[in-house]
Amino acid sequence: LKDTPPVLESELQRLVDPDRGRINGRVFSDPAIYQRELTHIFMKSWCFVAHESQLRNAGDYVTALIGEDPVIVSRDSNGSINVLLNSCRHRGLAVCSSDRGNTNLFRCPYHGWTYSRDGSLLGVPKMDEAYHRELAKDARGLIRVPRVESYKGFIFANWDADAIPLETYLGQDMLWYFDIPIVGALGGLEVIGPTMKFRMKANWKLASENFAGDDYHVLSTHGAAFRIGFLPDYDTLADYTAYFENGHGMGDIPKPGRAIELDRGMAQMFGPDAAAYVEAFSERVRTHLSDRQAELHSIGEGNVFPNLSWIKFGCFHAFGLLQWHPRGVDEIEVWQTTLFDSAAPQEVRDYARAQMSQENAAAGIFGQDDGENFERITEMLRGAVSGRADFDYSMGLGREGEVEVSGLPGRLGPHYTEQNHRNFYRHWLNLMTGQGG
Ligand code: FES
Ligand code: FE
Repeated sequence: LKDTPPVLESELQRLVDPDRGRINGRVFSDPAIYQRELTHIFMKSWCFVAHESQLRNAGDYVTALIGEDPVIVSRDSNGSINVLLNSCRHRGLAVCSSDRGNTNLFRCPYHGWTYSRDGSLLGVPKMDEAYHRELAKDARGLIRVPRVESYKGFIFANWDADAIPLETYLGQDMLWYFDIPIVGALGGLEVIGPTMKFRMKANWKLASENFAGDDYHVLSTHGAAFRIGFLPDYDTLADYTAYFENGHGMGDIPKPGRAIELDRGMAQMFGPDAAAYVEAFSERVRTHLSDRQAELHSIGEGNVFPNLSWIKFGCFHAFGLLQWHPRGVDEIEVWQTTLFDSAAPQEVRDYARAQMSQENAAAGIFGQDDGENFERITEMLRGAVSGRADFDYSMGLGREGEVEVSGLPGRLGPHYTEQNHRNFYRHWLNLMTGQGG
């Protein structure tokens, strides 16, 4: 990154004005703003790092990213989960270069220092000759992320020791929706297959704000899928958007009753096991959650601030997580993880998994449609004029939360609005100008 002067808070206020529906292009391209995001956004927010189904046994680990900081998420012998900076205390090399596995210890390849599953420095080669036994090993364990909390199997970490609890951060209103796939899953959600990883030349916020509730792009960007009949009429598929505290947002919320109708129709393609599965799922939601949640049955697509998006879920559609990891101001490393009900019939699991790859990921039809837009916007931002223009975020301004549907929590909006985008940037601006989260 270029050495640029620090961005003044007043300048940020000038560039980002959610209350007037105006965001300047520099917010997506200025290296100084990006540097500040790494400390003010990614070191202050709860970031998803793993799902507990990836860490069932002592010694299981996965690697993850918080902003650009690589971490190891490992389960140690006493069952607890550690989130450790994946950087050797000697010269900083990554001590773990696999995506996942099971191990007793992490060994740095450079000079061979070894660390335990909880990050303590265990071994230093040639301790006598090289260090005369004077090296304080206790003080040189891997740096720990101070806060690690889990919500029903979803593990998040936060560098801010004073952060509000994870459950408060996610908020009861959003969790009301989020609980439907988590609690409804008969055998619990589990990660299936490896996490797919690929890069995109785009600013990370373009992807996050899109998943936070940009229903407006679907007809144009993904229009071909509707024209060829791959999907039914979009306006009958989804009805509402909703936004929540701390910058989170969700779009594509179906009218209650609609999603279960679609799933019952889908089940006919598969046979009696699949039909029974849909009813059992629905019954479980009704028993453990509420009638209203059972009626909703499915949830839309959304974004947990800052960069964890999820892809809509239904009994025949896996619960996909998309993490938009920033890799510089103009690059994203996309991580796509697929979760599904471990007790769903095998043919349904196979179908849901195949659909996820077909629709999203590097080669999925919708993933490619969206990725191309994000990349071309980022390219446009290089221009002296095009990179400094204001963008319009005024759709539905002054009509925030004006839709009311009995029993659906959050600030509800119509299908087409930018209230969720503005909510995202309001929270972003608060953090960037140091007004807390
Ligand atoms: Fe890790 Fe030297 S850099 S042992
Ligand atoms: Fe899209």
